[in-house]
Amino acid sequence: MIPKSMQDAINDQINKELYSSYLYLSMAAYFEEKNLPGFAKWMRVQEGEERAHAMKLFDFLVERGGQVLLKAIQAPETDWKTSLDLFKQVAEHEAKVTASIYALYELALKEKDYPAQVTLQWFITEQVEEEKNVMEIVQQLEMIDARGTAVLMLDHRLGKRGE
Ligand code: FEO
Repeated sequence: MIPKSMQDAINDQINKELYSSYLYLSMAAYFEEKNLPGFAKWMRVQEGEERAHAMKLFDFLVERGGQVLLKAIQAPETDWKTSLDLFKQVAEHEAKVTASIYALYELALKEKDYPAQVTLQWFITEQVEEEKNVMEIVQQLEMIDARGTAVLMLDHRLGKRGE
């Protein structure tokens, strides 16, 4: 049986992952509106990954005989000044998610919850990848003029995600 403190913290993390999914879906809508289908596709794939993260934790609680308690998901923002501002927000958001995963892992160590430690190690590895991918896009956007053709080239490249 999973410790109650661990169950509560994992339920909170499920909510954070679902909020991430909602945030990226809102960003996908923003890019669709701006006629940048490649950026929108990247966000749609990212949104799907966040839902998968939530479901991984959902299934983990079920397997451990814990109780899944879904909470209200905060409404995401709907507008950003520039694509660069938007991706900087993604980078900040993912850094917060990483900190939250680390806190969960520390709790799993304190509670000597070994199965939770194993599952959370997957998330620790995943966050390294997520932060790297986003920082790469932030740096590329910083290199280009927001109105230049390079934006369209980046849009084309990001549209290949998941193919
Ligand atoms: Fe599920 Fe982007 O962290």
